[in-house]
Amino acid sequence: MIEHPSVKKQVIRNHYDISTLFYRLLWGPHIHHGYWEGNESPQLAQVQLTNKLANLAEIRAGSVVYDIGCGMGGSSQWLAKHRSCQVTGVTLSPVQRLWAASSAKWNRVSPAPKFLCKDAEQVELGPNSADYVWSIECTEHLFDKPAFFKKAASWLKPGGRFALCAWLAKESPINTDEREQVERVCDGMFCPSLGSQSDYVQWFEDAGLRMVNTGIWTRQVERTWEICKARVERTGVRYLARLLGKNHTLFLNHFDAILNAYKSGAMEYGFFVAENGV
Ligand SMILES: C[S@@+](CC[C@H](N)C(=O)[O-])C[C@H]1O[C@@H](n2cnc3c(N)ncnc32)[C@H](O)[C@@H]1O
Repeated sequence: MIEHPSVKKQVIRNHYDISTLFYRLLWGPHIHHGYWEGNESPQLAQVQLTNKLANLAEIRAGSVVYDIGCGMGGSSQWLAKHRSCQVTGVTLSPVQRLWAASSAKWNRVSPAPKFLCKDAEQVELGPNSADYVWSIECTEHLFDKPAFFKKAASWLKPGGRFALCAWLAKESPINTDEREQVERVCDGMFCPSLGSQSDYVQWFEDAGLRMVNTGIWTRQVERTWEICKARVERTGVRYLARLLGKNHTLFLNHFDAILNAYKSGAMEYGFFVAENGV
């Protein structure tokens, strides 16, 4: 795991309070990578990633799902609409909670998802209460990842599953240049640490979950950052960010850092499905 301890939780919260607007303008309702099989539109690619993970996790109709780090509620709404799931989304950002709840209402999503503004590392959702824990690109921001996995495992009913996508650091050995590339991403995108694929497997297993499936999707998702970079240059988003302050241009300037880290192999993008076998 590569650690970058100077990141602060309040800065992560502020980042999502302000940058949600940028993500929506630049990308769409999902704040996660797209998954490309060909020349699909970015919007379709985002849904494809959601759909792929839901299929791998074999999400059944009517399930209770906790969407941890739910952003604008993109996955929560999709799982309610397409899998009839009863979803509770959790986000650190009060702006995102309001955004997610309003857009689910506006879109008349049924069954209606619930959204909580809570810290995933503190929230109590009740033991044995979920069929699935779902988390796309949130655990990068957590400070005590092993403790979070233990907490999340306690929410799962027997046979329940945890489906997750995450940005990953390369497996060790990692050289100085690769480490610096990962640290640059942690700095610009507010990640206190990035785990490798085997770190995640270890955290799932230490939490008492059995790995069902894991894999690497770096090549299928990396186009996300080429498109975002081009959109930043083409639109007035950078000027808007400048008006709001230094931290908000910081993340726009780090799109290259992620893309380069994927290309050099310093970072990977992974998915995981694990099951509560007890
Ligand atoms: C990259 S966005 C992903 C959003 C969403 N999963 C999606 O795919 O559209 C990261 C999300 O993690 C949330 N997050 C970060 N740290 C968190 C924490 N400690 N507790 C709850 N949510 C957190 C942010 O508020 C944001 O919604």
